[in-house]
Amino acid sequence: MAMTQDEMKRAVAAAAVDYVEAGTIVGVGTGSTANYFIDELAKIKHKIDATVASSEASAERLKSHGILVEDLNMVSEMSVYVDGADECTKFLHLTKGGGGALTREKIVAAVAKTFVCIVDETKMVDVLGKFPLPVEVIPMARSYVARELVKMGGSPVYREGFTTDNGNVILDVHNLQILNPVEIEEKLNNITGVVTNGLFACRPADVILMATQEGVKTIK
Ligand code: A5P
Repeated sequence: MAMTQDEMKRAVAAAAVDYVEAGTIVGVGTGSTANYFIDELAKIKHKIDATVASSEASAERLKSHGILVEDLNMVSEMSVYVDGADECTKFLHLTKGGGGALTREKIVAAVAKTFVCIVDETKMVDVLGKFPLPVEVIPMARSYVARELVKMGGSPVYREGFTTDNGNVILDVHNLQILNPVEIEEKLNNITGVVTNGLFACRPADVILMATQEGVKTIK
């Protein structure tokens, strides 16, 4: 019988545990796939030193399992960061931030030695951009940034009623065909008022674990 998407998420989250090294600090992502990873991590919590969470929501879930969550400023080394994605390519470029946690995710990924991205096969695309690209923006810059995004050919949509963990807003940019993710990531970050954007191309994943009906595949 075919696996459901949820079963695939659970399978790939379990596979990611192999990348967790004993006696280290583990970076933990955000979203439904990352939640399954947190549940798997709980089973081996005595083997790790602590975790760093990429969102308040993940920190809460980790703590509910009795797993220690550290402030990133107290951590100088992190062996691995495990997180999901909204879209990914075989070049290990990602779009993230569907859940709005992109900035903290990017910060934790920056610190980690290895970024293991866990997805089910529905996330794999040839070209990023079908999933609207989240851009975190300082609230007073919202309209200005939106106009700049339109100049780049995008159609930004204000994520209404949503505030990030950092107190900012999100513009979801539709209609971008992201053929050169590194260039677009840098260009977007150069718009004044943008905190960060959901492209993970300058610092891509190091490994993608992708759940398929035939099992978990490793792309690197
Ligand atoms: C959170 O802001 C996102 O970057 C998530 O990593 C992404 O949305 C994947 O979430 P799911 O695992 O729920 O699809």
